[in-house]
Amino acid sequence: MANNNENPEFWERAFSEKQEMWGLEPALSAVLSRDFFVKNSVKNILIPGIGYGRNAQIFRENRIEVAGIEISKSAIEMAKKHNGGNMVIHHGSVTDMPFDQQQYDGIFCYALIHLLSGDERKKLISDCYNQLSKGGYLIFAVISKKAGSYGKGKLISDDRYEMFEGAQVYFYDEESIKAEFSEYGLFEITEVEENQSFYLIKCSKN
Ligand SMILES: C[S@@+](CC[C@H](N)C(=O)[O-])C[C@H]1O[C@@H](n2cnc3c(N)ncnc32)[C@H](O)[C@@H]1O
Repeated sequence: MANNNENPEFWERAFSEKQEMWGLEPALSAVLSRDFFVKNSVKNILIPGIGYGRNAQIFRENRIEVAGIEISKSAIEMAKKHNGGNMVIHHGSVTDMPFDQQQYDGIFCYALIHLLSGDERKKLISDCYNQLSKGGYLIFAVISKKAGSYGKGKLISDDRYEMFEGAQVYFYDEESIKAEFSEYGLFEITEVEENQSFYLIKCSKN
């Protein structure tokens, strides 16, 4: 079966059937990242895989300008409804980044990178880093091998499993985080309990 990136219909179907499937409250990782961005005077951010925008509002409430990238048109329509029409969201796959020449003070990427293949993950991190202004911050929230769902489904490659309805998920530990992010200014890894166990990864560009 095609993975969900070769098959954008996967997400289109999910959002048109289940609508705001994670509710409208921001994830804990978004709250923690808002605090970090505010403390560090971040003024504009990019959210790849913004979904229907549940994590955008708390940044905007703190005068942080938000732009997004999202593969599902239905999710973009919902995001515009919840956040007002005045937010730029590029329609397409992050695998086709960059979508603009903008430099951002921050990038917040929640629960997206672990859906990608190894090559796609590598490109995403590098593309995000390239769109960071000097002194900017990358924050990625990724699923952990400590999550209850780790090891369930069909093993595709090391630590990557095909789960419900064809989603392919790569589970991280500290070693794989260091392997993928070290060359991009990795400075902090925190464990966060969302609906599953996550890591919050912070990098900076000097
Ligand atoms: C697990 S959801 C997380 C959504 C959002 N970050 C949130 O927490 O509400 C993954 C999101 O990434 C989007 N997505 C998946 N693959 C993508 C890709 N290759 N390019 C852009 N967006 C993608 C999905 O449509 C979905 O909105």
